[in-house]
Amino acid sequence: MASKVYRICTLPGDGIGPEIMAEAKKVLAALGSKHDVEFACEDHLIGGSAIDATTEAGEKPTALPDSTLDAARASDAVLLAAVGGPKWTTTDPDKPRPEQGLLAIRKQLGLYLNLRPVRMYPALLDASPLRRDLLDGVDLVIVRELTGGLYFGTHDRQKDVAGAAADGGAGQKAVDSMEYTEAEIERVVRWAFEAAERRPKHRVTSVDKANVLETSRLWREVAHRVAAEYPSVDFSDMLVDNCAMQLVANPAQFDVLVTENTFGDILSDEASMLTGSLGMLASASLGAGTALYEPSHGSAPDIAGKGIANPLAQILSVELMLRYSFQMDDAADEVAAAVTRVLDEGWRTADIADDATPADHVLGTAAMGDKVVEALS
Ligand code: IPM
Ligand code: MG
Repeated sequence: MASKVYRICTLPGDGIGPEIMAEAKKVLAALGSKHDVEFACEDHLIGGSAIDATTEAGEKPTALPDSTLDAARASDAVLLAAVGGPKWTTTDPDKPRPEQGLLAIRKQLGLYLNLRPVRMYPALLDASPLRRDLLDGVDLVIVRELTGGLYFGTHDRQKDVAGAAADGGAGQKAVDSMEYTEAEIERVVRWAFEAAERRPKHRVTSVDKANVLETSRLWREVAHRVAAEYPSVDFSDMLVDNCAMQLVANPAQFDVLVTENTFGDILSDEASMLTGSLGMLASASLGAGTALYEPSHGSAPDIAGKGIANPLAQILSVELMLRYSFQMDDAADEVAAAVTRVLDEGWRTADIADDATPADHVLGTAAMGDKVVEALS
């Protein structure tokens, strides 16, 4: 018997989800024996697979069954892979969508903050579409607000609205509202400053669209107020369109980037390409209760079932889980070092391979997971 047991609610979800989750579990098993802890993983349904299962059982179709939410709440941490796929894609507001499961679990667990570290791996510098010299010194983290803004505002579709059709007649109108309270802004901004104090660059950039949006003007006021409490942190704000440009023009200027939900979603996909692939970007969703860890990428339906997906963002999400939920910094460092070593040795999945990668060094999902496990020992 291990001296300590951690219960992990594992949510493989859809697309490549089950394939990359299998590799994360291998890594957990290897770490467990090494550190004398047991990581007890229990799979539950979320996303499109939950919609299918509830439909088949004759229940009301849902992307987040109550049993999953209960299991998540009862666990020490949640590890999620990915949700979504063309099978469930619909614009019909009355049909369930896989992404609703993800949004609902974030909201229900009170995970108001999403952390996406953009870490450079020297071995992958040529995998990035950006020139090497631009990538020098890049080490940033995006702190994204996760349970407010457009994502959780009013979503409405109105029919027969006078003058809404292109010909001037009655047509449809859609509404998504964006709201933020001071409290919602302050808790993420404060977290960003706390994090910046412990990082080498000591810098916070707060990203908004204060020249247009009222929510952004409130965001900016709160950010400035909080900034005054952290005089040792170099603080500035930046408009989101400028930030999108700066991320490719001069990414090394950033340290902690804090922003609202939608901006953070968009900027984090952009920032992932600094590392060479969205397949390298892990994330931690933190809040009051059980935390959730997931790769920043989606379910990649185009390559699902082929065994070629990159499992590293999922494995690096385990690293974040060890750090933030289990305070196992040594084990977390080992995972990070193992990934670095595997890449330094030249092993690649297809998404991070380039012309210089020998064919026998391009690995499938399971082989890449095995390499990381090997590097751990
Ligand atoms: C992400 C994803 C999700 C989001 C989708 C799948 C709903 O893009 O985690 O970045 O928009 O938050
Ligand atoms: Mg996204």
